[in-house]
Amino acid sequence: MIKKAIILSGGKGTRMSPLTKAINKQLLPIYDKPLIFYPLSILMLAKIKDILIIVNKGEVKQYKKILPDGKNLGIKISYKEQSYPKGLPDAFLIGEKFIDNKEVALILGDNFFYGQNLTSMLLRSTKLKKGAKVILHKVVKPELFGVAKTNNNGKINQIKEKPKKFFSDLAITGLYFFDKNVVGYAKKLKPSRRKELEITDLLKIYLKKKQLSSELLGRGGAWLDTGSIDHFYKTSAFVSAIENRQGFKIACLEEIALKNRWITSKNIKNAMKFYGKCEYSDYLKKLI
Ligand code: TTP
Repeated sequence: MIKKAIILSGGKGTRMSPLTKAINKQLLPIYDKPLIFYPLSILMLAKIKDILIIVNKGEVKQYKKILPDGKNLGIKISYKEQSYPKGLPDAFLIGEKFIDNKEVALILGDNFFYGQNLTSMLLRSTKLKKGAKVILHKVVKPELFGVAKTNNNGKINQIKEKPKKFFSDLAITGLYFFDKNVVGYAKKLKPSRRKELEITDLLKIYLKKKQLSSELLGRGGAWLDTGSIDHFYKTSAFVSAIENRQGFKIACLEEIALKNRWITSKNIKNAMKFYGKCEYSDYLKKLI
């Protein structure tokens, strides 16, 4: 059972410069809330309450302004710094103490997931005891992603990073579930040609042991990239369209915490005070 998770929320944000020169990408707005709310909401939907956020050197203070310690959400948030972007598996080296020899999930701070059946898929994934699990989603340009080929049971039999020749259109998204061996395996990794530790290399260790499985986020779901300015605004437009049409918010953290019975109406009132007079607070008011 996975009870801990890491949000990797550092990065250079090169493609989004100059927006990311003074502010980390994950603190920039996707429509009406900071980007970091979206991956955090996914972990909360997965009923994970113990969360480590890894940020760039010197940025903890800024993050704590919006996500202090998780208490008001009924969860526990802690922080660690990454000295520079050494690659995704670095999360398991930085997080070794936090992980404490337990199973752990990893989500990239800039990944956006939405869709029906998402919660049941998440809850299935956190049941993992042995091996690793990834979430796959069909994409039009597989050559831009890490890609996987599966058998009928969702077991993965091949993965490739940015394949030049087509072999599958199922991209490996930025949400991963690992057993307790992950820290040990991450320690064995060597930097790639671009001088980063590669998540594909880590997944290949599990693949070799025939321990890599997957869940498919089908066409009723969305996995959106927020890495470039264009995609950032498209994701914002997506959230705005859904929220204004349905009147429900995507990734309202307090709403999820309340539904999970992790907090009470008192916490919602505190949150309204914290955010001040704004549309988000008006929404919170309607919850109680
Ligand atoms: P990337 O998209 O690879 O990098 P980036 O966000 O810095 O953007 P760019 O390519 O434009 O420079 O990273 C994916 C996510 O993982 C993003 O949320 C940042 C985070 N990340 C880290 O926190 N540490 C790391 O070492 C790496 C490689 C990424």
